Amino acid sequence: MDSMSLFLYLFLSVFTFFLLRATAAAHLRRRKTRLPPGTLGLPFIGETLQLISAYKTENPEPFIDDRVSKYGNIFTTHVFGEPTVFSADPETNRFILQNEGRLFESSYPGSIQNLLGRHSLLLMRGTLHKRMHSLTMSFANSSILKDHLLADIDRLVRLNLDSWTGRVFLMEEAKKITFNLTVKQLMSFDPCEWTENLMKEYMLVIEGFFTIPLPFFSSTYRKAIQARRKVAEALGLVVRERRKEREGGEKKNDMLEALFEGDGGVEGEGLSDEEIVDFMLALLVAGYETTSTIMTLAVKFLTETPHALSHLKEEHGEIMLRKGEVESLQWEDYKSMPFTQCVVTETLRIANIISGVFRRAMTDINIKGYTIPKGWKVFASFRAVHLDHEHFKDARSFDPWRWQGNAGSTSSANVFTPFGGGPRRCPGYELARVELSVFLHHLVTRFSWVPAEPDKLVFFPTTRMQKRYPIIIQRRSLFDPCKE
Ligand code: HEM
Repeated sequence: MDSMSLFLYLFLSVFTFFLLRATAAAHLRRRKTRLPPGTLGLPFIGETLQLISAYKTENPEPFIDDRVSKYGNIFTTHVFGEPTVFSADPETNRFILQNEGRLFESSYPGSIQNLLGRHSLLLMRGTLHKRMHSLTMSFANSSILKDHLLADIDRLVRLNLDSWTGRVFLMEEAKKITFNLTVKQLMSFDPCEWTENLMKEYMLVIEGFFTIPLPFFSSTYRKAIQARRKVAEALGLVVRERRKEREGGEKKNDMLEALFEGDGGVEGEGLSDEEIVDFMLALLVAGYETTSTIMTLAVKFLTETPHALSHLKEEHGEIMLRKGEVESLQWEDYKSMPFTQCVVTETLRIANIISGVFRRAMTDINIKGYTIPKGWKVFASFRAVHLDHEHFKDARSFDPWRWQGNAGSTSSANVFTPFGGGPRRCPGYELARVELSVFLHHLVTRFSWVPAEPDKLVFFPTTRMQKRYPIIIQRRSLFDPCKE
């Protein structure tokens, strides 16, 4: 970027900042309302740098803790170029999530919007969103999982684990597993060179999510746009081929087939190729990055909590003794993993892959004595609630036992929302749990492992292990829960 463009960019940013601030202040004076307490920080940058530097460490909590102790559970800040109301309050979060489409609408940064494509579920609104959300749910619900997806999950997890030797980057293997599973679920392809290449392009797309969406400003964003084009072309080709096959009477049992049968909001008209491609592209993003990170972090927390790992091994040892090594897992096996469910739930609570969601106020909104002005961003922070000692005893420790026999928290179910809530609640919540449970089953029954070198969990731009969590594995010939 040349210096003139940089100057113009900064000038416009600072100008917009002051304009927004003056408009909001005038608006509030007129209406005699009050903003939640807090500070907007420096012009344009606001408190973004403080937030980023906190989230690049292993302990980002002080960023929220300091502001909550100064201003309370709802405060005003200014991040990523916009004034934002930050909520660490479970009731307010619930109000925000439940009022999606009425008082608030989802709001993603420009980079993510451009890279996802306008027909992705995450960006859809209104009745079309409602219809497509339930179509997605119908492809990841318990009965589909039980009758159809569980067998694929079991097979593809085994296939991946079969190739492990010596030193393994767990984060990478987990990504391969979840990517291959999502591709299979979407369009019935087994892992091959094509899926491997597709995954490489996908990684570039995701890298571009947290950059400034100006191609001349960021080479990461430029590469992401190119990769997005390649992914869309590859998916477009599949869609066209499958349309031809359907004309010849051939049908498959996958998400793509459901999309061909869905309508695009206009009675009698199906979805166009472009709509289907955008939809699939976003589903792949939503499904694989999140679940693979949780897989990796579950293993990290278990490694650091040997008592929990032995409890888990016992549970899976019993299943293994019943079934042997070859027979694939059935729904009843999945349902007989109570401690595994505690481990998954606790990992979701403490890792907070999606630390919260951004929304935009569609009108002036009064809540808890404050006003959120129309057009402002709000951030409903799940992380702040999940790690609050008021809601979870010893909230910052990994303790899967807290979920045994009860809801795990000291108050209502509103305080545990790793999959969000309301009309945009994650349609993959059950699928993710099954994938995680099957993965843990095969991992602990086949291998023992130790970390290959120290690694660090960081939270910006996404939650990830800095060195992809390298481990040294040792294969067990026959499972023995007592053998280390
Ligand atoms: C551990 C794994 C996962 C976590 C923690 C997670 C979390 C979330 C959260 C918090 C949201 C709500 C976003 C919002 O309200 O704006 C969401 C939405 C979504 N998730 Fe997941 N997710 C996971 C796995 C999956 C999987 C496996 C799929 C595949 C089907 C999936 C597909 C989606 C989609 C399509 C949306 C957008 C829903 C909408 O906007 O209507 N997720 N996810």
